[in-house]
Amino acid sequence: MSNAPGRFPVKAPEWSMWFDTYAPPTPWSLSRQPRRVRAGWKKVLATGAAVAVAGVTGWGLLTHLLATERGTALVLGAAAGIQLIRGFLWWERFEHDRTVVRPLASRTAGVLDQAVGDRRTWLKVPWDYRINPDATIRIDVPADFTAAERDMEDITRAVTVSTGWVAPQVEPLLKSRKPRLVYSQNKPPPLAVSLADIKPRIEAAKPSVVVLGYAAGFEPVEFDLDSETPHVGISIKTGGGKTEVLKNVGAQSLYHGAIVMILDYKLTSHMWADMLPNVSYARTPQEIQRALMWLAWDEYDDDGNIIRSSELTRRKQAVLAAKREGKPVPPWPRIVILAEERNATSRAIRRYHKRTGGKGTAPALEAMDETGETGRFIGVNAMHAFQRMSAKASGSDGSRDAIENICGTVAKDPDEQTWKLIGRGHTQPPKSGHKGRYQWITDAGVTDFQGVLYHKDVDESDRIARELAMSGTVASPPADMPFVYRGPLLVPAGMGQLGVVRQEGSEQAFDLRPETPSLATGEGPARAVKLAEAVAGGLFVSIAAARKVAQRQGWEPVGGDRYTGFTYSVQDIYAYLRTKGNR
Ligand SMILES: Nc1ncnc2c1ncn2[C@@H]1O[C@H](COP(=O)(O)OP(=O)(O)O)[C@@H](O)[C@H]1O
Ligand SMILES: [Mg+2]
Repeated sequence: MSNAPGRFPVKAPEWSMWFDTYAPPTPWSLSRQPRRVRAGWKKVLATGAAVAVAGVTGWGLLTHLLATERGTALVLGAAAGIQLIRGFLWWERFEHDRTVVRPLASRTAGVLDQAVGDRRTWLKVPWDYRINPDATIRIDVPADFTAAERDMEDITRAVTVSTGWVAPQVEPLLKSRKPRLVYSQNKPPPLAVSLADIKPRIEAAKPSVVVLGYAAGFEPVEFDLDSETPHVGISIKTGGGKTEVLKNVGAQSLYHGAIVMILDYKLTSHMWADMLPNVSYARTPQEIQRALMWLAWDEYDDDGNIIRSSELTRRKQAVLAAKREGKPVPPWPRIVILAEERNATSRAIRRYHKRTGGKGTAPALEAMDETGETGRFIGVNAMHAFQRMSAKASGSDGSRDAIENICGTVAKDPDEQTWKLIGRGHTQPPKSGHKGRYQWITDAGVTDFQGVLYHKDVDESDRIARELAMSGTVASPPADMPFVYRGPLLVPAGMGQLGVVRQEGSEQAFDLRPETPSLATGEGPARAVKLAEAVAGGLFVSIAAARKVAQRQGWEPVGGDRYTGFTYSVQDIYAYLRTKGNR
């Protein structure tokens, strides 16, 4: 039985028939470290072999003198050569022990309460640790070691400074007769990731999943908009790749049939999405405000009645109606907001609000809060890109509430202060400095990964993103969604399901009038819709207006009830609108 580490001088038997052991050095030992004592059976075997060789040689010298002399010279020569090589290797190991093992032992001895002089019994660093990517360092620990976080941090740091292994992986094997820590090198993520690399993952995953890139060993890094990460933050300094990450999220979402709303104060960050039929692109503070208010700002009259409900409210009401009827929630397209440069944009929106005579909180920022608070249940997600994530830039009131709604963060080597805010209590991994190397941070942990870059050339990258966005399910945005390009298509035909997209006369890209109102529902044999649906389809400006028309025209409900809303004949509605020249 080998002696327990840290118990030197040894009390356990110094000799065993069956196991190698360690014993205190004798006055004649070269080293002050414990002597390795070979197991009894090995000694017996070696002695037997030596006696046999001596016997055979003696007998040979007596009977075949010449042959034996030559044979012995040959064997001795070979043995001398082998000893020379062994000597050289011994020197190498001695150096290795002096420069790596001993310092590592000194650095961990305090934490583990094990003697440095005993290191041979409890610390093994393979001599090829530097060149062999699969090398492992083994540190035996005392039986009372519990791998407490602080101890582990100290030991890991000691391993890093002694071996140069950055952020090594550690496997604590404590549920064992020989409790030990096994360190191995952290293999880095791939150096570059292209769209071709992640395309199979995109196709294999659910439509709600976005693939960000690959971690070590080509482990995909992805998040699910429908479950744990409806809203994502990106905290990366200028030039670090924010826009590329947003572009990737946007293009993948469009591919899966979402509508993307881009808020881009810099006007030209996302030219790949310019004039796409499934994108709403708001640029100036005024436009950004308008887009966000369409999404999440209900307008009231003086009596507190809603005169124009926001998209969020419309969706919530549709969920309520569906639940009451016990029907599934209507399958609307997901809306993914790409909010660029949140730090600068929040400031610009506040300035705009103030300079246009606004008091209090800017409605655009309140609408953004609202999206974070209730968006996840109704298919509305937001990606916020920050130069540096902060409470002030995230929420309308500067509180941390808005940040709490961000469930996953992409960061690139943030400073300590920022890590405190976004790190979710995890230890910050070492900075890599490599282009496109990010950390994906959730409550579950931190993963280092290489983000996808569609192409080095910006124009080519944009072309690829555009192609991806148009090659899947192309959603059509609600008729009243602002800043959607509704003119003739600028995308080459045949690139996707372009039939869905309208191709009528040209209009300015920023013309907000809903064009030909259309009803998605009520087209079945019953041909009846609720007034709310007619409003959502853009046939009436508000539910109040629709009710008034229904009353004036004397339409009789053809179905529904007081609670979920009556339905009216589509024919009646269209007949009326035709007289108004609206259809
Ligand atoms: N995943 C990536 N891998 C390698 N290089 C990248 C990656 N993402 C971005 N880059 C490079 O960094 C440059 C700046 O990226 P960009 O997204 O414009 O940064 P930001 O929006 O943060 O200022 C890009 O032009 C690109 O060359
Ligand atoms: Mg940018």
